[in-house]
Amino acid sequence: MPALVLLGAQWGDEGKGKATDLLGGSVDYVVRYQGGNNAGHTVVVGDQKYALHLLPSGILSPGCTPVIGNGVVVDPSVLLSELSGLNERGVDTSKLLISGNAHIITPYNVTVDKVTERFLGKRKIGTTGRGIGPTYADKINRVGIRVQDLYDESILTQKVEAALDVKNQMLTKLYNRRAIAVGQVVEELLDYADKLAPYVADTVLVLNEALEQDKVVLFEGGQGTLLDIDHGTYPFVTSSNPTAGGACTGAGVGPTKISRVIGILKAYTTRVGAGPFPTELFDEDGEALRRIGGERGVTTGRDRRCGWFDAVIARYATRVNGLTDFFLTKLDVLTGWEQIPVCVAYEIDGKRVEELPYSQTDFHHAKPVYEMLPGWSEDISKAKSFSDLPKNAQAYVKALEEMSGAPISAIGVGPGRTETIEINSFL
Ligand code: IMP
Repeated sequence: MPALVLLGAQWGDEGKGKATDLLGGSVDYVVRYQGGNNAGHTVVVGDQKYALHLLPSGILSPGCTPVIGNGVVVDPSVLLSELSGLNERGVDTSKLLISGNAHIITPYNVTVDKVTERFLGKRKIGTTGRGIGPTYADKINRVGIRVQDLYDESILTQKVEAALDVKNQMLTKLYNRRAIAVGQVVEELLDYADKLAPYVADTVLVLNEALEQDKVVLFEGGQGTLLDIDHGTYPFVTSSNPTAGGACTGAGVGPTKISRVIGILKAYTTRVGAGPFPTELFDEDGEALRRIGGERGVTTGRDRRCGWFDAVIARYATRVNGLTDFFLTKLDVLTGWEQIPVCVAYEIDGKRVEELPYSQTDFHHAKPVYEMLPGWSEDISKAKSFSDLPKNAQAYVKALEEMSGAPISAIGVGPGRTETIEINSFL
């Protein structure tokens, strides 16, 4: 019953695609359990680079069944264009399964995301503008549209009517926008029904049966721990639970089934969108991390904010997710610095604080306390084992491991599929 959760330990974009891909060949099911097309995985296979937003990265591994769980929000037009893009490149996508309980991102959810951000002005969250938050809001308000609703026109019409009832008031009276016509939305959604039908399944049953048959199931989180609606830097978060517990609710699998929780941890830190970020750099080091690390959003094309590694966050991620392992990515990006600062604690209003403060006000005031670690200048991209790394790179990894509270079981030393050092097997 090997069920693994793989999730971002920071603010997302830690390089999860590479980790999933490393496991791809031995995994039977790769499941997305939350988020939507706000995520962005770049997977490099041979000389081909794939940017996936909604599909689980297991779609690129021929033996693997990719699953979109009930906790995901699905934009059908994005899903279909991602599928046809892969088909054009010769990737077989026929095994994909989509939960009938997953919620649909409707065109009006995208509109509401954009107008509310604009309305918030300088208080905006910096969302990806993909309709993620409003779709989850509809889900919680019990006016959401689910994939299964596409197969009952009368129910679909009633539900779209209910959802638009209040939204049209808001759009016309508050935001000065045009009302959205129920019929037009229903027509567009019905148009997706036949195209999605071959993929729609009872994924909860499929996954639990797979686990009973000892299949390997990998739950792949989108975004990251600090973007979690409950455990992240609220309100500068996404509207779902990327943390480990989200895998259970977002896929319908009990916590007793999860055997391993792997946190993907970048050797430095990045963040997209607004919100606190204690180790953020505004100098040429930050610029260099952005340039060397290619820190530009896969989904939005926005430059990522960059900073040094933050061990307080890593410890927090270990705690809230019950991490059993870390996969440290992008170590190669740090090659060339004489000394590398690592944030070991915060100073908040004159006091040293070792753990992430639960008070948002305190976190906004947190200043990093740095320890300087010696850097290395050798090219590490060809390293195949831990001992191939220069001594200072080894010491950097060991120091991070000690500060972060879980073993580092793999290290990414370059973007390619094979540029990974495996220390402990994940399976
Ligand atoms: P939303 O998920 O589009 O609602 O955006 C909420 C916040 O999460 C914003 O700060 C986004 O930049 C951030 N975010 C959403 N998806 C990702 C991701 O995949 N990587 C990094 N940040 C993300």
